[in-house]
Amino acid sequence: MHETAALRERVVGIDLKVPLYSGEEVVYTNLDNAASTPALKAVKIEADNLLEWYSSIHRGAGYKSQLASEWYERSRKTVLDFVNAKMGYHCVILTGNTTDAINRLARKLPRDNDKSVIISAAEHHANDLPWRDRGRVVRVPVSDRGEIDPDDLRQALENEGKRCRLVSLTGASNVVGTMQPIHEFARVAHEFGVQIAIDAAQLAPHVQIDMQGRSEEERIDFLFISGHKMYAPFGGGALIGPREYFNSSAPSLRGGGAVLVVEPEGIDWAGSPEREEAGSPNVIGAITLAASMRELKKIGFDRLEKQEKILTNKFLNGLKKIDGASIYGLAEDADLERRLGVVAFNLTDRPHDLVASILSHEAAIGVRNGCFCSHPFVMQLIGVSTSEARAFRQRVRAGDRQEIPGAVRVSFGLYNTEEEVDRVLALLKRIAEGKWEQKYVQSEKSGKFKPEMGTFDVASRLDRMQRLV
Ligand code: ALA
Repeated sequence: MHETAALRERVVGIDLKVPLYSGEEVVYTNLDNAASTPALKAVKIEADNLLEWYSSIHRGAGYKSQLASEWYERSRKTVLDFVNAKMGYHCVILTGNTTDAINRLARKLPRDNDKSVIISAAEHHANDLPWRDRGRVVRVPVSDRGEIDPDDLRQALENEGKRCRLVSLTGASNVVGTMQPIHEFARVAHEFGVQIAIDAAQLAPHVQIDMQGRSEEERIDFLFISGHKMYAPFGGGALIGPREYFNSSAPSLRGGGAVLVVEPEGIDWAGSPEREEAGSPNVIGAITLAASMRELKKIGFDRLEKQEKILTNKFLNGLKKIDGASIYGLAEDADLERRLGVVAFNLTDRPHDLVASILSHEAAIGVRNGCFCSHPFVMQLIGVSTSEARAFRQRVRAGDRQEIPGAVRVSFGLYNTEEEVDRVLALLKRIAEGKWEQKYVQSEKSGKFKPEMGTFDVASRLDRMQRLV
């Protein structure tokens, strides 16, 4: 079987037909994998199996409870192995997603405006907003190619001295796909005696992560992962970090399961990971995250990376030939080793939302457009000044989202094909040439472009589907 056909076989729902504005139905092309990926079949099977056996975990004496508890605990071990975390040193806290993981870690830091967390100017909001609430946030600059320079990190650490409590940096940009030298960051942070966290939401589905590195200096102290970005969309994720760190303070979430003994006036907290997992956990999220990790390992990252590079290279080279296309980030053939298949771009005089809407309504191609929950970095990339950004903010507050700056993003998953790349390029060329089929109208309130005729009626399809349940 052809390589991509064999990979497609492993994914759920990728040959579904959806309507165009004309009503004609064609197979959907999903090029929005940086936001969320479809499920692997292995993940669906694991979820189905669990539902048969689902029961309360950690509390019940019954056979099903014991089985479900063991199943859940094994997920932790799978996550630990997947990122080569250090057994005994690291511990895996099973969370909802990356945002949840970072918020939980941030809540462990007592609020102190004299203290800082160092992040970069390339972070998505999950690795920015939670820290703002804890003290000062210091941003290491990012180049327009999406690169964070370890020397800039060193400079920030020198400036901050003892005030820096943590360095938390992205492993790969969700906007332009640039991969970062995470072990070099770790060496720099550790020179200053500061722990390092890596936001691996975008990195983990694409490349092998090695939390231990080649030495203690290279070790990643904390790592954040989302299941929905790695073929396991059941609300599972992970916060991995030093067990002793979690044990050294009260948990970020409080309730049953996190304790040893509770009296009216006192609490003895359990050790981690239980200490950080109050309440009944998301068992299905955890076990499907683990199932996805097993499947990705079985396929092999070498194979996945090779396939992704073919698609990315083809797409970048095709895009460069389109008049008026501006590509953000690394775009040369020689850069392929340092980037993922996440490509942000704009077409001259074509609003990003119009481009995304035409792709959807005229070719059933799903992409994301806008600022990708990474407003400051996107503003930098497209050259929006601080005063212009303020002006947009005022207009949004007044209910007008028509001129919101942004870009279009194409992002590949393990099942995408070269034919899909050809299809999206062909349509982008037509859009650049002004040759799309329909008239599109923009809503002032949402900023969205819709075709004048033939908007999607997703509610009716959902009504039909739900009656079948
Ligand atoms: N989930 C966000 C994205 O689409 C961050 O990249």
